[in-house]
Amino acid sequence: MKNLKEKILELKKQKNAVILAHYYQEADIQEVADYVGDSLGLSQEAAKADADIILFAGVHFMAETAKILNPNKKVILPDLKAGCSLADSCPPDLFGAFALKHADHMVVTYVNCSAEIKAMSDIVCTSSNAVKIVESIPEEVPILFAPDKNLGKYIMEKTGRKMLLWDGSCVVHEAFSLDKLIALHKKHPDAEIIAHPESETHILKTANYIGSTAGMIDYVKKSSKAKFIIATEAGILYKMQQEVPGKTLIPAPSNEDNTCACSECAYMKMNTLQKVYDCLVSESPEIIVPETIREKALLPIERMLELSK
Ligand code: 13P
Ligand code: SF4
Repeated sequence: MKNLKEKILELKKQKNAVILAHYYQEADIQEVADYVGDSLGLSQEAAKADADIILFAGVHFMAETAKILNPNKKVILPDLKAGCSLADSCPPDLFGAFALKHADHMVVTYVNCSAEIKAMSDIVCTSSNAVKIVESIPEEVPILFAPDKNLGKYIMEKTGRKMLLWDGSCVVHEAFSLDKLIALHKKHPDAEIIAHPESETHILKTANYIGSTAGMIDYVKKSSKAKFIIATEAGILYKMQQEVPGKTLIPAPSNEDNTCACSECAYMKMNTLQKVYDCLVSESPEIIVPETIREKALLPIERMLELSK
């Protein structure tokens, strides 16, 4: 009897499908994926995907981005309810009115937003290229940044550039407890703290390194240090530990006393290996983006990809 993973690998071949997975996906899903990466890496892979079907093991906005880049391919997501609190914090009607009120501003949006929001943007960015993208905009041009206020504040701090910020955030990255983090660091004074820029400013201030999920893995690999406290979604620990088997990785503590005492994204964890299999069999749920929105959303994504080469 073949196990689920073997069946998925076989189906993938049969259907000429590719599985793109984010670092926050459960380990079993990462193991059957063709590519595992951060939002930028996943967009770049999606842009060059040579398959009939893209199964996106991540959240809705990521699959939507893949569909915007690949209108003629079937893009499927194991669970359509796998959304994103940050994307939800920026409803298109409210954002549209806000952008209209500040029509002289260039609209820079973090990729964690819906296709409708991307369609209202001048350029998109991810956490790995946000600083570079903002720095590419002439000084005299006012910038409206959405939806993540924490990433926005971090970019302002890094670039010295003032930006008008949308008031959005990620529930997972706002769940880290500063008190518990300080207490944990006292117990492990030899550990470096590394954090994702969606975290709040008081958490970022404690960090030795701030970067995207891919950036964090790279930092831990290259660092001469042996112990790290990781302030991002705990799914990253699977790939990170594989890359640095001899190092100690400790998840940053969250306010909630959950089973792992860490931060988990409930949306990311909606995808399961069984759902990946079912999704490949039925080739659904499928991501559909209306053509009028897709065309408008494509431009700011292409501008980002161009600047990230
Ligand atoms: P990365 O692009 O750093 O992987 O971040 C994606 C995300 O959703 C973080 O919460
Ligand atoms: Fe969205 Fe936060 Fe989950 Fe990332 S961790 S997908 S920003 S809710």
